[in-house]
Amino acid sequence: MESPNKIAPPIKSYFSPELLKGQVAIVTGGSRGGMLKEIAQAYLQHGCKAIILMSRNAEKNGEVVKELSKFGTCHSEPGDVRKSEDCLRVARRAVELYGRIDILVNGAAGNFLASAAKLSTNGFRTVLEIDTIGTFNMSQAVFNTYFNTHGGVIINISAALHWAGSALQVHSGAAKAGVDTITKTLAVEWGPHKVRVVGIVPGAIEGTEGFERLGDLANMNNKEKSNQAFEKGDAKQAASGFKDSMVIAPINRFGVVQDIANAALYLASPMATYISGTNLVVDGASTLIFPNF
Ligand code: HXC
Repeated sequence: MESPNKIAPPIKSYFSPELLKGQVAIVTGGSRGGMLKEIAQAYLQHGCKAIILMSRNAEKNGEVVKELSKFGTCHSEPGDVRKSEDCLRVARRAVELYGRIDILVNGAAGNFLASAAKLSTNGFRTVLEIDTIGTFNMSQAVFNTYFNTHGGVIINISAALHWAGSALQVHSGAAKAGVDTITKTLAVEWGPHKVRVVGIVPGAIEGTEGFERLGDLANMNNKEKSNQAFEKGDAKQAASGFKDSMVIAPINRFGVVQDIANAALYLASPMATYISGTNLVVDGASTLIFPNF
């Protein structure tokens, strides 16, 4: 038997292809591909009758939807999660087109590396608006449109940035802390309506925009070079200092998008009906040895 420490990225699904039979999911923020596209694909491959992919970038969203259409019905809906009216329109459209909503995946997020000394108020606000207010807006829209009377599952994509202090991430860390609060609060408030609210905390996941843009944060071992850059407020240089020593999770590999899709399948499924108000950490134990990520 293979050692559990050498667990390879999954190459096939062990879930029933009917796990989510007939269900409808709205996924926000999938237009950049990565883990959200993979979640949408996995949902289609496990029985979902339709996915509504919502993004403010209509062109990119359309391209991803075209690719996902190989796996089932996927509908592109332009919209900005920062605008409550867009969220309401998308939720209503989902019901109008497909008659129901079963799953909402709040994945839309903004991020970049910026030193706290130089980040503008608007830069801070923008990330909070996309991540935190966007998660709230979309959850409220889906609840008031459908979940309040039918129940459903909300999956919020969070991060571990705020567990400790992640340099250059004051905006995103604050935003994700807000997202976690939303997860817990809505789980309590909407539990009686048969709504479960859960989060996923991904570690370093290869092939995602976050990994490309922020992966340098995974290299906090080499702080010396970076510290000098911090002092100068040079975010880019500080990040490149991290880059010299890559930290890989104890599980001995980076994550892959299928790891996150598997978690999202499980959490949306009937196997997880007693799980609500909490995050599932999918990081190969990396945050245990590297709390700043
Ligand atoms: C400093 C920046 C900046 C940067 C934008 N801003 N990029 N400040 N460094 N690199 C500032 C702008 O100067 C402006 O402030 C304000 O933010 C708004 O910028 P806009 O470009 O007008 O906003 P908008 O087009 O709405 O969106 C910008 C954005 C977006 C949110 C930054 O470009 C973006 O994030 N794209 C990446 C999406 C992404 O990678 N998502 C995955 C996240 S992964 P001023 O003051 O000038 O007006 C993730 C996981 C984290 O979140 C865990 C990983 C470790």
